[in-house]
Amino acid sequence: MVLLKQLLQGRRPRLPLHLPAHGRGRALAPALAQLLRQIPGSWDLPELPEIGGPLESEGAVAESQAAIAQLLGAQRCWYGVNGASGLLQAGLLALAQPGERVLLPRNLHRSLLHGCLLGQLEPVLFDLPFDPVSGLWLPPSPEHLDAVLRAALAQAPLAAVVLVSPSYQGCVGDLVALVALAQRQGVPVLLDEAHGAHLGLDPRLPPSGLSTGADLVVQSLQKAAGGLAQSAVLLQGSGSGVDPARIERALLWLQTSSPSALLLASAEASLQHLHSAKGRRQLARALTCGERLRQRLVACGFQLLETQDPLRLSWICAADGINGLEADAWLMERGVIAELPEPGCLTFCLGLRPPRRLLRLLPAVLEQLRQELGGAGARSFSRPPLPLVASPELPLGEAWRAKSEAVPLDQAAGRLAAEPLCPYPPGIPLLISGERIDGPRAAWLQEQRRLWPQQIADTVKVVIA
Ligand SMILES: Cc1ncc(COP(=O)(O)O)c(C=O)c1O
Repeated sequence: MVLLKQLLQGRRPRLPLHLPAHGRGRALAPALAQLLRQIPGSWDLPELPEIGGPLESEGAVAESQAAIAQLLGAQRCWYGVNGASGLLQAGLLALAQPGERVLLPRNLHRSLLHGCLLGQLEPVLFDLPFDPVSGLWLPPSPEHLDAVLRAALAQAPLAAVVLVSPSYQGCVGDLVALVALAQRQGVPVLLDEAHGAHLGLDPRLPPSGLSTGADLVVQSLQKAAGGLAQSAVLLQGSGSGVDPARIERALLWLQTSSPSALLLASAEASLQHLHSAKGRRQLARALTCGERLRQRLVACGFQLLETQDPLRLSWICAADGINGLEADAWLMERGVIAELPEPGCLTFCLGLRPPRRLLRLLPAVLEQLRQELGGAGARSFSRPPLPLVASPELPLGEAWRAKSEAVPLDQAAGRLAAEPLCPYPPGIPLLISGERIDGPRAAWLQEQRRLWPQQIADTVKVVIA
């Protein structure tokens, strides 16, 4: 009973600044909290006729999905119980047939790669603008995406393009222009909006993905709404010509046949609440808290990443000579739990009801951290040596299943990757199965190994020729 013991303890750390955004229950959607106060387990029901499921045309789930589609201005809506991961994969498989090519950004979440594998799709990866100060990929500008689309379409047609917006850290590009660019070329857009269920609901936030005309939009309802982990939603844009039957077929292939009624209710309750007047007020208060925290930290001389979401706060600790993974370990020992440590940045998720002591405590703790770990001078990061667009040399599924051997990173140049290299979190692959590791890439991966010591092994699995 080790796990249960942990969960039953229910001890709150000093500053929980991680996902889910309900902040250990404090901002759980009220209707969901009410449901959980019923007799434990009474709500764990099968697909009874009156309840149905996400693929049924009748029953409470169907009605709920239709109501949410209307509320959000979508053509259709499907709930999912396997996170944004499961719905992104269903979206990909709905848009592309085996052998077809899909355009994916280098900051893709690994679930999209797995979707390509399952659907036998060819991933065409595109490079992104890179920030040497934070070590992060940034959203593409319309000019950048235009060049990418031209280069990719000059090789062969594309069945779909995936855009990730917001990024994990809360960066949003000019999505209206980006979506229009792809659609003008006849390429439908699948938007990974896992971190953006709240966009468009406050004047301080960018517009929602749906309002930009994306064909399919996937939101995780624990990352920016008050839902439980694994609850997610797939939305079809009002102007999208994708055949819903293709979407439902892909959902049938990938989702469980026994969806948890609790997680389906979490999808409904979190979206209803977020879009209600009360939910918007709660969001507005959290945004104000995020803005104040940012001002305080900037006034103390901390360098923060420019983001479009005040609920994500990324401290560029590399500017103080500190690796985000070391900073995270230091903070965790002192009861401050961040969401995403990376070599150049440490990202905090404030959630929909930020902890009360946040404004006072975080600047003080970070100041102490900076004094203890800082002082080495600012670090910067080298740009990943990647082509504008590239596909794996060997098909993804073939490379991943091929006979392989582990070789030290410094001997990997010239070899074909069998397995991806993917620090988690954030789950963004630095190398993909079937890619040829050239000299500059091998050197860059060795540098990444030094930057992510516990996350990346010093060997890489390569295909045995
Ligand atoms: C950008 C992005 N997309 C998709 C996902 C997958 O979401 P989930 O964990 O809900 O499956 C994540 C998870 O971190 C993510 O960061």
